[in-house]
Amino acid sequence: MIQFEHRPGLLDLGWGHPRPGLLPVEEWATATAAAAREFGWRQLTYGYPTGPAPLLEWLSARLGTEAGQLFVTGGASHGMALVASLLAGPDDVILVDSPTYHLAFRILADTGARLVRAPADADGVDPDALAGMLAALRAPGKLLYLVPTFANPTGRSLPLDRRRALVALAQRSGLTLLEDDNYRELSYDGEAPPSLWDLSGGEGVVRVGTFSKTVAPGLRLGWVNAAPTLIARLTELGYVESGGGVNHAVATTMSCFGASGAYDRHVAAVRAEYREQRDALVAAVRPHLPVAAPAGGWFLWVTLPPGLGATRLLAAAERHGTSFVPGPRFYLDGPGGEDRIRLSFSHLAASDLTEAATRLGAALPTAWG
Ligand SMILES: Cc1ncc(COP(=O)(O)O)c(C=O)c1O
Repeated sequence: MIQFEHRPGLLDLGWGHPRPGLLPVEEWATATAAAAREFGWRQLTYGYPTGPAPLLEWLSARLGTEAGQLFVTGGASHGMALVASLLAGPDDVILVDSPTYHLAFRILADTGARLVRAPADADGVDPDALAGMLAALRAPGKLLYLVPTFANPTGRSLPLDRRRALVALAQRSGLTLLEDDNYRELSYDGEAPPSLWDLSGGEGVVRVGTFSKTVAPGLRLGWVNAAPTLIARLTELGYVESGGGVNHAVATTMSCFGASGAYDRHVAAVRAEYREQRDALVAAVRPHLPVAAPAGGWFLWVTLPPGLGATRLLAAAERHGTSFVPGPRFYLDGPGGEDRIRLSFSHLAASDLTEAATRLGAALPTAWG
């Protein structure tokens, strides 16, 4: 019934899923009843192509964007697939940050475009090196995919000067920055940095967002934030014309969840819980491996001691009753990441995170070749 598979005996730090106990079951039931009362049959017929006005208005106020710059999707993955297929095809190049969200590679590759690693260092994509690469590319670079804020897998955020330089580069070169802004609301130590979208004034950037991290992934509800010309192209897609708004009933329910204040209360509550989970995992990993606490998101990106590989450590960790995602998964075809592991602190409660880290610590001395 669900994507998560429990492996008996394993406290798995691999899953970037919300902790089940933090999913707002009761609050969502309340919003569902409120939406049925408020919208009646209008909730159950075909929806407006870009999404229902009550959600677009609430969301645009929250994001500080225009309602006409939004298109409601079935999650960020769906938004990325739609945007990539409109903006790139088999003769094009799509650049991707590395390391980055590994499942985006498949979504972007579905367009038939060639995926190429953008130049990046420990701070993220390097705009100067990228400018040189764009000039040398034979096929036009159409898109650059990145998660600039509280990234998956690194937890890092792109520095402000690089954000500005990337936006300027996109605007003068015709490259579109595909900004995956999934983790913006999950900030634990102050405000998230400004989005590329906000810095761009709406030109050269398309932003995708989601309710998967803040509310629940099962809703399959997210959005594309783009210039009105691209929003118009989305609404003209054959299946939107045929089927209307892509997730109308859930979108109308979300408008009630937002307007009632339930969204704000829930996000504040989960932020506090995930902060506590982050702190528990950081504290429990530190005696074994050096690790920095990310300012937001769901992941620790841990460097292994020289000579210890992630693949080998994974086998040892699973023998000791824990697991993680090895670094190489987050690099587009080719080298990188054997010295890194991604530990998720989203899915397990603090006490289980502590136990998982203890098991990882016990696995370490057994993993040397
Ligand atoms: C960076 C990133 N983008 C997109 C997704 C998928 O988002 P959605 O559930 O909205 O499709 C995830 C989920 O793990 C993610 O980490």
